[in-house]
Amino acid sequence: MGRGFIFLARGACRPMDTVHHDVLLIGGGGAGLRAALAAAEADPELDIGVASKVYPMRSHTVSAEGGTAAVARPDDSLDEHAYDTISGGEWLCDQDAVELFVREAPEELIRLEHMGCPWSREADGSVAVRPFGGMKIERTWFAADKTGFHLLHTLYQTCLAYPSFSFYDEWFVTRLLVEGGRCHGAVAVELGTGRVVALLARAVILCTGGGGRVYPFTTNANIKTGDGMALAYRAGVPLKDMEFVQYHPTGLPFTGILVTEATRGEGGWLVNKDGYRYLQDYDLGKPEPKPVKRSMELGPRDRLSQAFEKEVEKGRTLDSPYGPVVHLDIRHLGRKVIDEKLPFVRELCLKYEKIDPVHELIPVRPVVHYMMGGVHTDVTGATPVQGLYAAGEVACVSINGANRLGSNSLTELLVFGARAGRTAAAYVRNGVPDPPSEIMEQAWAEERRLHREILDRENGTERMADIRDEMHQVMEDEAGIFREGPHMERGAARIAELRERLEGVALDDRSLTFNTELVAYLELENMLDVAESILHSALDRRESRGAHQRRDFPERDDEGFLAHSLVHRRPEGPPRTELLPVTITRWPPGERVYGREYERTERPAEAEKSPSAEPEVPER
Ligand code: FUM
Repeated sequence: MGRGFIFLARGACRPMDTVHHDVLLIGGGGAGLRAALAAAEADPELDIGVASKVYPMRSHTVSAEGGTAAVARPDDSLDEHAYDTISGGEWLCDQDAVELFVREAPEELIRLEHMGCPWSREADGSVAVRPFGGMKIERTWFAADKTGFHLLHTLYQTCLAYPSFSFYDEWFVTRLLVEGGRCHGAVAVELGTGRVVALLARAVILCTGGGGRVYPFTTNANIKTGDGMALAYRAGVPLKDMEFVQYHPTGLPFTGILVTEATRGEGGWLVNKDGYRYLQDYDLGKPEPKPVKRSMELGPRDRLSQAFEKEVEKGRTLDSPYGPVVHLDIRHLGRKVIDEKLPFVRELCLKYEKIDPVHELIPVRPVVHYMMGGVHTDVTGATPVQGLYAAGEVACVSINGANRLGSNSLTELLVFGARAGRTAAAYVRNGVPDPPSEIMEQAWAEERRLHREILDRENGTERMADIRDEMHQVMEDEAGIFREGPHMERGAARIAELRERLEGVALDDRSLTFNTELVAYLELENMLDVAESILHSALDRRESRGAHQRRDFPERDDEGFLAHSLVHRRPEGPPRTELLPVTITRWPPGERVYGREYERTERPAEAEKSPSAEPEVPER
């Protein structure tokens, strides 16, 4: 690390710690580590930095449960995977991106196998695949129900073999350094010391994940505060399709912890307060011409979450201290299957709900899980700013369209993480000019903002917790599963007010060592930007498609809105939105088809048996 005197444009001179890398990864989860490996494989000479606000193994990828999709069996095909993804995304996916995604998916999962990922197996030793929501054919690879944990470990242990990687664990990036349309690095706070450092780089790849924490009830870890989206948005990069926020149908009440879709893939049922499999009353998509029975619980996430809301309206849900719930029933799977294929679900239910799903019903409700939108990139991971790339949930390529299919996201972070890493490596190899001196002026201004304008601010009039709670309330009430124009307008105005009020917050903690209050402030600042982008994109999409359902525009409108939305931040006032055409290659827009005819069997009477009093501890 250099601690040099940097000449600022205005002629002043001050010291600031700087480091230099060829490629800087921001985010150390699945996408970041895969991108780092791909860049290093493309050019072993590259000097690579990985900056992450948490230790890489604490990244949110670790909590992915159910699996990762790729064609694995002779009865499947790349076209079937592509079609399921496109139909599931309600034709808002870019089909060129989907085609290369499904093609590169199996290669990525086999590569992981070679790195040591312990995929679950069939008795004959072949890789096991399980059914997943919206996928017609079994193609979800898994490692029990701890797929993200094993995938992330595999990538991390592989990265540790590279001496050319420098890890900046627990460094919080607060600003991208962009000048003349080119990204030259970032500014970060080393959380252990409070030191502000310029991380200069020839190429930067954003891999910071999504921002589910903008909502109050989410499967997302506390760290998922939309940091990379906000960094790019503030640096002039548009965010794409931000109105599409996915609710996962089965989260545990109160904590929002994910109960994986694999429970339903293995045969679990969703029942209302009368024990009735209510999904049979709703339109989950058109059956295919040659029906093969498939459980209705494996319908698409958007439709399942919308069906839950309708059950609430009909008074057919159960009351819980944390709002209405329905029940997920996996008792009929039996203890052996649960312990073998869903051990983590059992563990989570025992720990966080004090129930044993071998014997008891699991209370669940829809919960914010994933953002289909993100930083606008092309299929190589490139953003409109030269030298700036993005991959994983932070990015929108877009393969997910208006509704992502379960188990496509781990695959996405591998395929597009690798692509972004290779593209960044090629960009650096082609020669990148040294950063102009204005860059250090930006870095210095950021240090001053952090220390003088935020840490040293006196006479606060606002509380951070109030602003965060109000943001949560606005997003849940005005930008939830069903939306309406006037509500969203009101919500957007409130978010603008909250952004102003954040400037009235003075921190109690002025220390520089692990100042978690400062981190919370910076994260809230990021979340408010993300909230703004969601509300304005949603307001301007006057139709219903996938996860974006408007009561005032209930129909899909391909004439007006078969297009991506781009939202651009403006220094003052509301953001600007525009539409960008969707790329259609081989599949013209049609009716959504969800696999095969849904199985409509009733639950057998023994499924109603009451639970045992004492939960058993799962066998290890
Ligand atoms: O339910 C799940 O295991 C979630 C998977 C996914 O979002 O891809």
